[in-house]
Amino acid sequence: MKLAFNPASPYARKVAVVLHETSQIDDVEFSEVVLSPLAPDAETAQKNPLGKIPALERPDGVTLYDSRVICAFLDERAGSGLIPSGARRWETLTLEATGDGIMDAALLVTYEARLRPAELQMEPWTDAQWDKIMQACTALNTRWMSHLAGPLDMGQISVGCALAYLDFRHDARGWRKGHDALAAWYETFSARASMQASRSPEA
Ligand code: BEZ
Repeated sequence: MKLAFNPASPYARKVAVVLHETSQIDDVEFSEVVLSPLAPDAETAQKNPLGKIPALERPDGVTLYDSRVICAFLDERAGSGLIPSGARRWETLTLEATGDGIMDAALLVTYEARLRPAELQMEPWTDAQWDKIMQACTALNTRWMSHLAGPLDMGQISVGCALAYLDFRHDARGWRKGHDALAAWYETFSARASMQASRSPEA
């Protein structure tokens, strides 16, 4: 299988962490793609009409996207139970959506600062994205700690990769403030071999 990815992408990192955690890392060839909303990659667009990474090309020629679909596929392929059945399934998927939502908002903040000319940047809009991130961190810190402390699942992986991206691109904003329990959880989670092996490049 061939994975179109970028080492800075938190969505691609989710996939890399799942590959490590489920011992499928050697089944995938990593193909690094450099792209942005203003500079799409033609080859990626042929595989994913949305032009986004990660995209996983299977040997049968089918390309899977986005990261949620790829991770669900890899989980089923390995029979690893990262997306459990029963009541915990819906909690796990909601937690994954929370982590992915943090990534979505954080990426918009990144793009606003990096891609939009300074005179067109809108601070209230950036602040609104950051508010979403802080609200999500507060919900994780108050309502999700017992789930986060449970067996490894897709929700934890998404949240771990989202927090890592906040450190990577938005460290100065200080997401840990007021979120002590979440910060302590992340300290342990980020030490996992899968997280260390998939570290983002230096900012
Ligand atoms: C980044 O540089 O932050 C980035 C690059 C590719 C995808 C997502 C994020």
